[in-house]
Amino acid sequence: MILPLFKNHKMEDQRVKVAQLLKKSKYSMAFTGAGISVESGIPPFRGELGLWNKYDPKVLDIDYFHSNGKRAWFFIREIFYEFFGKAQPNNAHRVLARLEHSGLLQAVVTQNIDNLHQLAGSKHVFEFHGNSNRLVCTECGRLSDISDINLEDIPPHCPVDGSILKPDFIFFGEGIPPLAYEKSFEAARDCEVCLIIGSTGEVTPAAYVPNTAKRNGAVIIEINPEESLFTHSITDIHLRGKAGEELRIIENLLFE
Ligand code: APR
Repeated sequence: MILPLFKNHKMEDQRVKVAQLLKKSKYSMAFTGAGISVESGIPPFRGELGLWNKYDPKVLDIDYFHSNGKRAWFFIREIFYEFFGKAQPNNAHRVLARLEHSGLLQAVVTQNIDNLHQLAGSKHVFEFHGNSNRLVCTECGRLSDISDINLEDIPPHCPVDGSILKPDFIFFGEGIPPLAYEKSFEAARDCEVCLIIGSTGEVTPAAYVPNTAKRNGAVIIEINPEESLFTHSITDIHLRGKAGEELRIIENLLFE
């Protein structure tokens, strides 16, 4: 296998180091943000092409949702179902699933709600912000799969008690799902290596997960074409590139 021509030797050394760290580590985790799904065609929330430049984040405010269900659902349907709904996993999701399958990655903590890690084959995925594939009844709490609900008629209603259904991901003003919270920080405490892929680190408490890993002695490896709030605070190795490209090179170094 001929390694691709590296732009510079420093990057080559860093990627070789990342592959060695993953091979040696007894427990590695990945912490992913919207950036890992950009190469699947899903825009990030922040940055020049960010969704929050086009939509008002208030459409995801829980109080706004309860008082303007129909209007909120109009935007939610446009952003998360008409647009996101057709996205497929990209190379980055696929490599993380292969690392897990090969015993080189033990958990994925994701801020994303797009279900792409699971579609790529990752099994140990902790969804810090929930998942858009499920809808939850605002009264009885029953879960419905999005494939069973017709979004032509919004807001959708619970098939059991007729109350409004809400996507099963957290809105601004809602708490983190308790089990995902517990498992995410457990992984952060146990890991020797934490890959941070495609996150600004601007949203808490999610951003406390990699910070907890750092405090517990993990090596922090960041994959992001830009700098983030992690870069100059906890990151040990910053692979400054796109997730799909960087992870393909890491995959080649580990398996080819
Ligand atoms: N590969 C890796 N990283 C990328 C790529 C790429 N191809 N493209 C963009 N990025 C990086 C950007 O540089 C940025 O740092 O992904 C990050 C995307 O930032 P955000 O959109 O803020 O995503 P994230 O940090 O996950 O946001 C956290 O904010 O609105 C809430 O709930 C929402 O989960 C989301 C949370």
